[in-house]
Amino acid sequence: MTAKYENPQRARSGPSIAPLSPPAAIVGRQRELILVMSHYEAAKGGHAHALLLAGEPGIGKTRLLDEIARRTAQDGAIILRGGASQAEGMPPYLPFVEALGRYIQVTPLDQLRTHVAAAPQVLATLLP
Ligand SMILES: Nc1ncnc2c1ncn2[C@@H]1O[C@H](COP(=O)(O)OP(=O)(O)OP(=O)(O)O)[C@@H](O)[C@H]1O
Ligand SMILES: [Mg+2]
Repeated sequence: MTAKYENPQRARSGPSIAPLSPPAAIVGRQRELILVMSHYEAAKGGHAHALLLAGEPGIGKTRLLDEIARRTAQDGAIILRGGASQAEGMPPYLPFVEALGRYIQVTPLDQLRTHVAAAPQVLATLLP
């Protein structure tokens, strides 16, 4: 699914800089939040969902995803994050390797064994 965005502030941001204080409250985006949270609720019911979020630079994609991460984490979801760039030489599946790698670092072994048991072949192709 693709969602297009209009910038509520008509402002373009520069590179991300880690904020010194918690981010300001999200402005607008209620329609998008309701849509994404409805997919989250459906996924909780056992049916995997994938969403594609697209929009021009600085439009608020990351801010929206941060808000979704905050809301779903409050609900007990595990949030995995991985990133990719268009630079040459990026390893295949980099976002997945990053996201899973961080999770593996902080998760107890017995819990990881349970997770791996659910899909060993798929994981072995990503993390040989
Ligand atoms: N709905 C919103 N409410 C409040 N602040 C917002 C909102 N959307 C974006 N911002 C702020 O605008 C700035 C740019 O947003 P953001 O970094 O999320 O854009 P982006 O689409 O991820 O940009 P890029 O394409 O460069 O990654 C950030 O400071 C962000 O906190
Ligand atoms: Mg962004």
